[in-house]
Amino acid sequence: MAQIIAFSIFKGGTGKTTSAVNTAAALAEQGQRVLLVDLDQQASATKYLGIEAEQVQAGIHHSFMHNTPLSLSIVKPPFGFDLIPSHELMSAVEAMLESGKDEDLLRQKLAPLEPEYDYILIDTPPGKAMLAFNALVAADRILIPVSAERMAIEGLADLIKHLHSVLWRRFDLAQDLRILFTMYKANTSHSPGIVKEARKIYRDNVLSVLIPESINFPRSFEKQQPITTFSPNHAGAQAYRELARWLMDAQN
Ligand SMILES: Nc1ncnc2c1ncn2[C@@H]1O[C@H](COP(=O)(O)OP(=O)(O)OP(=O)(O)O)[C@@H](O)[C@H]1O
Ligand SMILES: [Mg+2]
Repeated sequence: MAQIIAFSIFKGGTGKTTSAVNTAAALAEQGQRVLLVDLDQQASATKYLGIEAEQVQAGIHHSFMHNTPLSLSIVKPPFGFDLIPSHELMSAVEAMLESGKDEDLLRQKLAPLEPEYDYILIDTPPGKAMLAFNALVAADRILIPVSAERMAIEGLADLIKHLHSVLWRRFDLAQDLRILFTMYKANTSHSPGIVKEARKIYRDNVLSVLIPESINFPRSFEKQQPITTFSPNHAGAQAYRELARWLMDAQN
């Protein structure tokens, strides 16, 4: 059965999409069966992987709006893993979920896919909308990408508070939470200082893998290739491989 991992934080631009896409690619390199689900109406992960909305027969929004199986929305980008692409019409799904206050629909829709994969990774939209909450409820594990560029502790505290006070109570959950520092600048005192501060508060929940800051990430996005194929030997690619190995070790 697949382990379901949400890449989540309410704050925008922290590396959620970059981490979801490149972790998917790194796990696939290791022979794992991976499905990446793009829940964000901006469809950044979908664009990153070079998939156009027109290529998709039954978009993820159909699955939510007309209750068809999610499996009909799966496409196969040429990177060794499957993708459920997003679409701007996910805004209609968001409105529908909002009106029903439905936080559990994604979990139900993913259940039939779980035997098919080792990992189901979910790229979530920023903000506190229903699709983001759906990802948090569906997940077995929550990875929280946090930029090590600026003080990000508040964004972290906000998410963790919401999990404890609302979602975990309502759904009787207590998932594994890990903080993944991204955009890490090793040659400054600022980034290491931020990570040190976070370790004082969040201890072992801060992953030892640090994703370096690099222009190769926006470049790999422009070239529509995960960094593991765009620049396979780059430290950024190695860091996501390290994260993939950590996930595989943690599961065994
Ligand atoms: N390690 C990194 N080094 C340098 N740039 C990065 C790194 N990770 C991500 N970026 C860049 O930062 C920007 C934001 O990253 P990304 O889209 O992954 O964040 P996000 O959290 O998904 O954003 P949103 O909240 O809008 O969905 C992108 O331009 C991306 O290429
Ligand atoms: Mg994103």
